[in-house]
Amino acid sequence: MILERRSASWMKKGDAVLMATYNRFPLVLEKGQGATIVDVDGERYLDFVSGIAVNALGHCNPHLVKVITQQSKSLFHVSNLYYNVPQIKLAELLTSRSFADRAFFCNSGAEANEAAIKLARKYAKASRGADCFEIIAMNGAFHGRTLAALSATGQGKYQKGFEPLLPGFRHVPFDDPEAIEEAITARTAAVLLEPIQGEAGVRIPTKGYLARVRKICDAHRLVLIFDEVQTGIGRTGRLFAYEHEGVAPDIITLAKGLGGGVPIGAMLATEAVAQAFSPGSHASTFGGNPLVCAAGVAVLGHLTENFLKKVRERGAYPIDRLAQLQKKTDLIKEVRGMGLLIGVDLAVPALDIIKRGHQKSLLLNRTSDYTLRLIPPLNLRKAEVDKMMTLFTDILMEFPDVETRPPKS
Ligand SMILES: Cc1ncc(COP(=O)(O)O)c(C=O)c1O
Repeated sequence: MILERRSASWMKKGDAVLMATYNRFPLVLEKGQGATIVDVDGERYLDFVSGIAVNALGHCNPHLVKVITQQSKSLFHVSNLYYNVPQIKLAELLTSRSFADRAFFCNSGAEANEAAIKLARKYAKASRGADCFEIIAMNGAFHGRTLAALSATGQGKYQKGFEPLLPGFRHVPFDDPEAIEEAITARTAAVLLEPIQGEAGVRIPTKGYLARVRKICDAHRLVLIFDEVQTGIGRTGRLFAYEHEGVAPDIITLAKGLGGGVPIGAMLATEAVAQAFSPGSHASTFGGNPLVCAAGVAVLGHLTENFLKKVRERGAYPIDRLAQLQKKTDLIKEVRGMGLLIGVDLAVPALDIIKRGHQKSLLLNRTSDYTLRLIPPLNLRKAEVDKMMTLFTDILMEFPDVETRPPKS
């Protein structure tokens, strides 16, 4: 008798009751440790997706498990009508290690951006006039699925069918400071951008771009908002990606890696801008509850300067290995990245590579039809990169029209 795989049975049940908002892969994941994840049938996978850049310390990091377990024994949740210690500790850590003076906590990246949009509007209206509310955002940007964040997003494919979008957003090309300058009007309140565009395929702007944007914002008294939901919390090898260029924003938004896997978002701001919010301006029932904030404190505790240096080194290694592989095959068009946020442009559909990866027990992610994004845990081991490279090379070799050739001189 052939036993039905447990995953098949769960997928059937899931397809009957879950809303079809995802094209899910046929994997039902059950447990994990570090960069390894195991499905309900006991199959083990090397995970280079990390819940899309969320599991910064890998799956079930023992220290994180201990901290969350301990916190769950004392207090899960209290309203923001009261103070709680983990929330204060996390705000202290985030502000002491960034340009910011104050923190607001929420539950996701989209919510952090909603908060940032509201704060920028409130600040600009109060300081420059009621008509001042427009935000200049970037083509190709991704800021989340709630309506204001979706309106700020610069990719029509996510917006289609949800119109009318929220008014007050103008989109300009990314990495083009002149385009920002040209789009400024008397109504402009803020500029919103990702220091590296993640969902657009790991697009790294020209050196000096962020400084130019900062200068423009200062000259026109605009609030500068960096969406570091994906690039923040050590992903690029610095705690925040803006540190690579030494250019600080007025507001930053965070989520993904901040809780190491528990849902938490944050918006940080300078004192001057944060003053625009007063009691009642904004709120979140779950935002900053003790359970998720205790996890955030544990994650930040791990991300010491020494750890971040190692993330830079760990990231340089797969980028170098991929660049070496690129010299041997025309299937890889470009490799780019910073820290452990890596994009690989391919000449073959990324989905084909991902599906073959599953057969070889490797989880990979794509941002578009021909671009893979590697976003493994930040404490990835060298042996895991080597294994990924072996599997990835094997997968590429399976394509019949692959031309492997000696390294280009
Ligand atoms: C840069 C950026 N901003 C915002 C978001 C939205 O975050 P969330 O899915 O937690 O709402 C994402 C998610 O991928 C993101 O990459």
